[in-house]
Amino acid sequence: MEISYLRISVTDKCNLKCFYCRPDNMDYIPHQEILRYEEIAKLVKAMTKYGLKKVRITGGEPLVRPQIENLVYLLKQIPQIEDIGMTTNGITLAQHAEKLKKSGLNRLNISIDSLKPDLFYQITKGRLEDVLEGIKVSKKLGFDPIKVNAVIIKGLNDNEALDFVEFGIEYGVEVRFIEMMPLGQGYIKWEEEMVKPLDEIKQKIEEKYGRLLPSFSIGSGAAKVYQLPKYKTKIGFITPISNPFCDGCSKLRLTAEGSIKLCLRTDEEIPVKEVLRNGSEEDLDKFLQKVLIEKELSNMKIQKSNYSFSDCARVMTSIGG
Ligand code: 5AD
Repeated sequence: MEISYLRISVTDKCNLKCFYCRPDNMDYIPHQEILRYEEIAKLVKAMTKYGLKKVRITGGEPLVRPQIENLVYLLKQIPQIEDIGMTTNGITLAQHAEKLKKSGLNRLNISIDSLKPDLFYQITKGRLEDVLEGIKVSKKLGFDPIKVNAVIIKGLNDNEALDFVEFGIEYGVEVRFIEMMPLGQGYIKWEEEMVKPLDEIKQKIEEKYGRLLPSFSIGSGAAKVYQLPKYKTKIGFITPISNPFCDGCSKLRLTAEGSIKLCLRTDEEIPVKEVLRNGSEEDLDKFLQKVLIEKELSNMKIQKSNYSFSDCARVMTSIGG
């Protein structure tokens, strides 16, 4: 087995408060517990031996961590790393985009759950306008493709599907719809009712635009991507609930306080901070071999459990998607 992809959470802090993502009173991880950029880069470098080529920086909100472009730069120096992405809420992107570009960031995913400023505020407690500005600036700087992620929640924003497609055309961005997953506890209770199966959204789009043609988009492991007829725009669907995509998954996550998270569906984590800070190179290599074995076992368990989400105590805001 190879590790092809690592998602790196650099902080559990966020400058938004999306009601489905972030509990009201969260204890932040103390600063000294958070991995340093050098430690993250050391781990990424060690993982390239096992096939790592693509990384994605996420949070919380990655842009709230000071000098995040320094991490991008460090990762860019690792020759085997071909692709560095970032998932951001875009609130302060306009101010950061240029530094990120210069440091070598390749791609941006930006979360927008509603194109109506009022509803956007209701969901996130932030200003849609700031995010749109961030997208415009990033476009101008040449980030391409830019992907916009919309978590679809039945009865809340599922009537905006066609608006999102139009937005994709107008802004020249790829739009990806995501089914709401049951992650974390304590703020809102996830209910099956909230999930809008995305084939219904796809159907609606096809009624207006014609048949979506299967396509490909760089870095889209989990998404089914389609080409919109007559436009350059691509549309993606991420369906963890209605159509799980776990088979052959070789994605790993690194939490901000330094654990490898094997799978979004379970709480299985293996702490790596100790070996990163105090171990030898051989220790780290041995650790990674263990991680690979554990990942395979975890995949088998998930298949057996019929792709359930079991014991997901970790809230999304501390994993970053
Ligand atoms: N289900 C699906 N997507 C989620 N995200 C956060 N919480 C959930 C959830 N429960 C999304 C964010 C962002 C990405 C990092 O993960 O909206 O787009």
